[in-house]
Amino acid sequence: MSSPRSGVDVVTEALAEVHGRYGSLSDGRVADYIPQLAFADRDCFGLALMSMDGHGYRAGRCGVSFTLQSLTKPFVLALALAELGPDDVGRSVGAEPSGEAFNAISLDAVTGRPANPMINAGAIAVTALVPATSPAERFSRILECLGRFAGRTLYVDEDVYRSEVETGHRNRALAYLMRGTGVLRGDPVQAVDTYFRQCSVRATVTDLAVMGATLANGGTNPVTGERVVPEPVALQVLSVMAMCGMYDAAGSWMLHVGLPAKSGVSGGLVAVSPARFGIALHSPLLDAAGNPVRGVAALRELSERFGLHLM
Ligand code: DON
Repeated sequence: MSSPRSGVDVVTEALAEVHGRYGSLSDGRVADYIPQLAFADRDCFGLALMSMDGHGYRAGRCGVSFTLQSLTKPFVLALALAELGPDDVGRSVGAEPSGEAFNAISLDAVTGRPANPMINAGAIAVTALVPATSPAERFSRILECLGRFAGRTLYVDEDVYRSEVETGHRNRALAYLMRGTGVLRGDPVQAVDTYFRQCSVRATVTDLAVMGATLANGGTNPVTGERVVPEPVALQVLSVMAMCGMYDAAGSWMLHVGLPAKSGVSGGLVAVSPARFGIALHSPLLDAAGNPVRGVAALRELSERFGLHLM
C-alpha cells in the first residue's frame, strides 16, 4: 500500500508540474525600454513558495537574481505607511485603480495626486515621502527595509540603475508635474534618482517569496521572525496590491487568480495568500499588459487547483 502524500509533497509536486507545463511557453516579449533589461535570459523561469512556518518550496531557477523594478513599490509603500500613517501618505497618493498604463500621467485634476502607489507617479511620490535628512539616507532606509522583508541584505545593480537614469525621462517629467501640483516636496530629480535606485535592487525568486510571505504573515518575516511593519500596514498594502498590482490586467487577474499580487517589468511577480504563504516567480517574457506570461498561467492553474481565490 502506498503511504499518503504529505502536504510538503503535494506543494513540491504542484510547483514542479506547473513549472514543467508552462516553462515552454514562448509567447511574450522581454522589456527593453530600459536597455539593460533587454539582456535578460528569456528562458529563465523560477517559482518559489514560502509558507507561514518558514518552509520554502522551489521549482526551476529560483537563485538567479534580477532587478525588482516595480516589485519594490508595495514594500516601499509599507515603509512609508509604517513611518507616516495612512492619512499622511493619503495626502500625496490615492488608492484607486487608474485603469491606465503604469507610466501614465495619471494625476487627479483637483488634488494633483497620482491615482495609486503602484503606478510610477504614485511610487515616485511614495519614495519621496520616506523620512530622511538626505537622499542617501532615504535610499539606505529603503534598501534596509527591502532587506528586512527578504531576510537578507540586498544590493543595487549599478548597470541597470545607470540605464534607468539615461532613459527615464518620462519618470522625471512625472516628478516635475507632481512638484508643480505640490504633491512632491523637494527636488524632483533627487526623488526620481532614489526611485531608479530602488527599482534597480536585485533579489532572487526565493527572496521575493519571503517578501510576499512577510506581507501574508501580517508584516512579520516568517524566516527571520522579525516584525518588519505593523499588521494594519501589511493589510493596507495587500489591499492596494489586490486593486492595482497587475497593471491594466488587475481585473482579469482578480477574476482568475484572486490574490493580491504585484508584477514588474523585469518579469518578476509576487502573490500573497493571506495567513498562508507568499509565492513568487521570475520569467522575463511579458504579455501585452506587462505581466510574465508563464507566471500568470502557472498561478492561474495553482489558484484553480487549490482553491486559492479569496472570494
Ligand atoms: O520606472 C520604470 O518604468 C521601471 N523602473 C519600473 C516599471 C515597472 O516595473 C512597472 N510596474 N508597474
